[in-house]
Amino acid sequence: MTFEEWMRAVLDRVETALDHYLPAQDIEPTQLHEAMRYAVMGGGKRVRPLLCHAAGELTGAQAASVEAASAALEMIHVYSLVHDDMPCMDDDALRRGKPTVHVKYDEATALLVGDALQSQAFVALTADVLTPAQQAALVRELALASGSVGMAGGQAIDLASVGHTLTRPQLETMHRKKTGALLRASVRMGALAGTAPDAATMSALDAYAAAVGLAFQVVDDILDVTTDSATLGKTAGKDAKDGKPTYVSIIGLDASRALAAQLRADAHAALAPFGARAQRLAELADLVVNRVS
Ligand code: IPE
Ligand code: IPE
Ligand code: MG
Ligand code: MG
Ligand code: MG
Repeated sequence: MTFEEWMRAVLDRVETALDHYLPAQDIEPTQLHEAMRYAVMGGGKRVRPLLCHAAGELTGAQAASVEAASAALEMIHVYSLVHDDMPCMDDDALRRGKPTVHVKYDEATALLVGDALQSQAFVALTADVLTPAQQAALVRELALASGSVGMAGGQAIDLASVGHTLTRPQLETMHRKKTGALLRASVRMGALAGTAPDAATMSALDAYAAAVGLAFQVVDDILDVTTDSATLGKTAGKDAKDGKPTYVSIIGLDASRALAAQLRADAHAALAPFGARAQRLAELADLVVNRVS
């Protein structure tokens, strides 16, 4: 199977799983459920579910287990996007090529969409297909990655940094938390959905995931200055306009590109112990660094 065929098959399963784990649109309150589906369905690159599936394949996870974990990850990710776009944060009107949730609906709805997606993610992690031990491990991974020591904490640093310049270590910390933590959890959760991975496997996967997670936000910073809004599906050039410290603003475009390439090489190196079994993870590291949107 080629990488494209593998991706298509996984993406189909991810859409079905998201549809399954989201409350139906005709359940009360219907407007909230419609808005949750507006935010989640039929858009986005689904990078976190792809990483979760690739790691799950490596540890022999059942498809249904990885689907539950992937749906949970994507719901947390979309919640973070909906809130990130709100006027109190980045104040963006375009996401995934469509009006953002607070523009399409209203601010209160956007707030509640994020809240409800966050809760629904943890419902997915209690799926029967996961053993009680797996449920507990996955809940802990996702809660830590998305909370104040992970994504939410990174977002707090991001907002507090507007108009300031950060040192390079401070910038790295911010990026590892706001974006890297959930990507890292995507790999770890895929692995944990399989047969209890040993410490060496987890540590190699963790090194891979940390590199990919940081690379992802370095590339996001690069694309903000090099790509247009139509390609990105979100407003380009927003970071400089808002005075956000980014890799591009702090080390420049060329050094940012070199860093992304270095992190891709680090990710590949971490996969060495797995040989050909890690092919999909290696291909996903390439996708994260070479993507154009
Ligand atoms: C955008 O994430 C926000 C960041 C964490 C950088 P993605 O680039 O994964 O957005 P979608 O899911 O494809 O829309
Ligand atoms: C977003 O970072 C990180 C999270 C949503 C947690 P950005 O603010 O750079 O993401 P975009 O560029 O709006 O997608
Ligand atoms: Mg932001
Ligand atoms: Mg933003
Ligand atoms: Mg960005």
